[in-house]
Amino acid sequence: MALSEDFIYQLRLGNPIEDVVNSYSTIKRHGSTSKCLCPFHSEKTPSCTIYSDTQSFYCFGCGAGGDVISFIKKIENLSYYEAVRFLAERAGIAMPDTSGDDFARKKSRTYEINRETANFYFKCLLSGSDKRGLAYFKERKLLPQTIKKYGLGYAPDQWDALRNHLRSLGFTDSEMVTADVCRFSEKGSCYDNFRGRVIFPIIDLRGNVIAFGGRTIDNRGPKYLNSADTPVFKKSRNLFSLNFAKNSSSKKLILAEGYMDVIAINQAGFENVVATLGTALTPEQARLMSQYASEVIISYDSDAAGQAATQRAINLLSSAGLTTKIIKLHDAKDPDEYIKKFGSTRFKFLLDESNDAIDFELSKCKTGLNISEDSDKYTYLRKVVGVISSLDDSLLRDVYISKISRECEINTSVLYSKVEEAIKNKHKIKQKLEWESTKRSLTQRDEINPEASKYSAQSKAEEFIILYLIKNQDKLKEIKNKISADEFVTSLTKKFFLQ
Ligand code: GTP
Ligand code: MN
Repeated sequence: MALSEDFIYQLRLGNPIEDVVNSYSTIKRHGSTSKCLCPFHSEKTPSCTIYSDTQSFYCFGCGAGGDVISFIKKIENLSYYEAVRFLAERAGIAMPDTSGDDFARKKSRTYEINRETANFYFKCLLSGSDKRGLAYFKERKLLPQTIKKYGLGYAPDQWDALRNHLRSLGFTDSEMVTADVCRFSEKGSCYDNFRGRVIFPIIDLRGNVIAFGGRTIDNRGPKYLNSADTPVFKKSRNLFSLNFAKNSSSKKLILAEGYMDVIAINQAGFENVVATLGTALTPEQARLMSQYASEVIISYDSDAAGQAATQRAINLLSSAGLTTKIIKLHDAKDPDEYIKKFGSTRFKFLLDESNDAIDFELSKCKTGLNISEDSDKYTYLRKVVGVISSLDDSLLRDVYISKISRECEINTSVLYSKVEEAIKNKHKIKQKLEWESTKRSLTQRDEINPEASKYSAQSKAEEFIILYLIKNQDKLKEIKNKISADEFVTSLTKKFFLQ
């Protein structure tokens, strides 16, 4: 927390350096200077000089020096804030609002609690009397080295196991609740948040444990419990396993949905995999990914929810400047199941042949259709034209036009002209919408085009001409031969005419 200049000024006024130093080592005046035996090294003749004009000290013997705050820091072995607090108390000055200071303390206590909690759960998993957590991970085919790498754990099926452990280490109940590893009951007693669950610690880029995910092993309660946001954790800004993925030399990241998917993919030999933390992808997470990669391979579940999430992710990732590819999982609901069923080599094939976002859009057009039937093929092609015409790059459009023509066994030029037509229509619609919104603002807000109200009949006529031109762009030349821009009475319609 920054302390104001005013406050520091007051603090110095209330603590003249001569007085403060004098209470540690007697000051003697030598002419205009004040000296004392230096309290920071042992000496027989005084070499510590106190300058009252600048309110500072300097020792010619050991080089110690500074203002009154640094003097107290050094002699009392305090941090800057503690020294300030010390001097404020000494002079009877109230400290300013120290909530920032408290927040820093809360953060560091939360980090400590998280680290101890992760250690505790890890020990409970491997050497606790309740072996169900370990059995669960074994059944899910996690190797011992994977468990160790991720620091996975088990929260005992008790209300107070972690709480008692943390109490024994000197943490208060309210600190545990702040870290969200414990909660207060209505009656005010403190109980463990995770009970009878396997634990996935979430680790930041500096290696701090910042939160936990806990999965039920017996279908009690929600499938996953995740830490709420705490002073050290904001779920929308972090990604599970980025601490490992960031070290991968690949410029590609694999984005999965769940903790277990990430761990399975990582165990299969792909270090560059991350997941969101129990929420949909956020723009912040997309930006975070763009710092480590140029391409993201989306590897979400194959169910409808996963596909909808894929669509959302494509948009967010593209906005963050990332290229996206999509993995198609056949005969498996998620990557974890896929790897278990077909092995990591097959998964590597999937990664290599993952399709790009446009393929994904195109294949969606086919949903529910049987394109070997003519009417379905027609529906499919109409949808496809919509997708291709939305691509800005004409080369890219050509690539997909030939691809679809081959697939549907139709003439490329037919598809090509349909796409061109759709682009023209889209352009017209866009221009029309633009014009209409301009017109609305013309009538609503006179300051945009004050001339419109002055010459209402002419401006109406001019609007008609513009609208006609938008619809019949081929007539532009002809009309321009008949009317010149200077004949337009309002500058806005004139501008549109010239465009
Ligand atoms: P497994 O069934 O263990 O394989 O889980 P998974 O990792 O495949 O996760 P799933 O696809 O069921 O869900 C994806 C992610 O959504 C999980 O990893 C969690 O982060 C989150 N999630 C799933 N269920 C819940 C829930 O009940 N509550 C919350 N808050 N998050 C959940
Ligand atoms: Mn799963």
